[in-house]
Amino acid sequence: MTENNTNNQRFRRSLIWHLRPTHVPERAIRFTHTFGLGGMALVLVFLLVFTGILMVFSYEPSPERAWQSIAAFQEDVLFGSLIRGVHFWSANLLLPVTLLHLLRVFLTGGFHGRRCSNWLLGLGVLACVLLSGFTGYLLPWDQTAYWAITICTEMLGLVPGVGPGLRSAILGGSEIGSATIINFYALHVVLTPMLLFALLSWHFWQIRKAGGVVSPTGPFDNVREAHRTVPLVPNLVIKEVVVALVLIALVLVLAIIFAAPLGEPANPGISPNPAKAPWYFLGFQELLIHFDATFAILVIPLLAAAALIAIPFIRYEGEISGNWFLTPKGRRMAQAAAVAALVVVPLWIVVDDRIIGPDGWLPGTARLVSNGLLPFALMLIGASAFYLALRKSFNASRNEAVQSLFVLFFVAFVVLTVAGAWFRGPGMMLVWPWQM
Ligand code: HEM
Repeated sequence: MTENNTNNQRFRRSLIWHLRPTHVPERAIRFTHTFGLGGMALVLVFLLVFTGILMVFSYEPSPERAWQSIAAFQEDVLFGSLIRGVHFWSANLLLPVTLLHLLRVFLTGGFHGRRCSNWLLGLGVLACVLLSGFTGYLLPWDQTAYWAITICTEMLGLVPGVGPGLRSAILGGSEIGSATIINFYALHVVLTPMLLFALLSWHFWQIRKAGGVVSPTGPFDNVREAHRTVPLVPNLVIKEVVVALVLIALVLVLAIIFAAPLGEPANPGISPNPAKAPWYFLGFQELLIHFDATFAILVIPLLAAAALIAIPFIRYEGEISGNWFLTPKGRRMAQAAAVAALVVVPLWIVVDDRIIGPDGWLPGTARLVSNGLLPFALMLIGASAFYLALRKSFNASRNEAVQSLFVLFFVAFVVLTVAGAWFRGPGMMLVWPWQM
């Protein structure tokens, strides 16, 4: 038996072999095929768990002690400020990286057929990431944290029917206090990490079962090039290690240059102006300015979640997958959708703010109609017209048209978030960021 064969056998018997294949398609491991986004999300999760465990030793989950315990951790513990900084930046990068990964999977058609269940699992992972970020936000117990969670739970309380009950269950009472911080702490350090690890293990097993990530389908110079496989070690592993190291370096640099903020201790009597939700919920806070609460907090988010779940179940003409934007035409259509969202959404924000005003689109009627049903119907009509026009003018398949619609809504939500983060000042009025 040659030395090579012995090595191969040893490798096959190891645990790693059960997690990873020995060989991978050469065309699927090009960096620009996945940009390593799933791996980056995993690295960030590990950084969060590692630094989180270190902080648990000194954090005290009570309104009286939480802020002081964090301040003391930063000042008295060796590398305390750095550890908190790494936790802060990893958390703030995890959501965008996860969303970009979702976008990559979607735009390369990585959700068809046997990957369908993994898409659904991924959505569960996304919900967990959001819950983890949200529950962690309150823990520093400074003004920003206190009022951001106040805004969010007030938004939740506006949901007709279940809203108030859900709000008091989360708060552990009628307002934010010691029960809330304990609820959030337990969810943040026990429940969400456990759920995340369970879901992620399943996620990776499903990737393995599906034979790895979707492979690009070409164009290739010849059949051999299209089907060539290469050993996992070193070809893919070296790329993964480089991506992980660069990411860790970036997080460290960010943590050193921009320390995690810790504002004044929470003061329930003084509300900052503007009081804003955590940045990843600012899109919803912005929606709340333009739509009645039933639509902003219930109908639109539920429809968005239903659409994400429905993606693999839509009947497409074929399971086109593997190449970015599916086809060159798909790419042009997606670009058109992105430009449309970049033009229409800011216009909508300004027109609604400056011309339509708080009484809505049909003053004199119920708010639910004037600020809810009517603008919502207008939005749906606009999106449907856009979908049909794209399909017709590009002579596009359903795959390509659905993809463009997804890009339209994705970019629209990013624009809403940017507007909420940088273009809203005192009283949530529209302002130029440099005037704030
Ligand atoms: C913490 C969050 C997540 C982590 C750590 C993670 C990790 C990964 C990794 C490492 C891969 C393979 C390589 C790559 O694509 O970069 C992958 C593939 C995949 N992920 Fe995720 N993922 C996460 C969230 C999500 C979300 C939110 C979705 C979608 C809703 C999703 C759906 C998928 C699917 C369907 C695949 C297989 C795609 C294909 O075959 O091309 N993942 N994930």
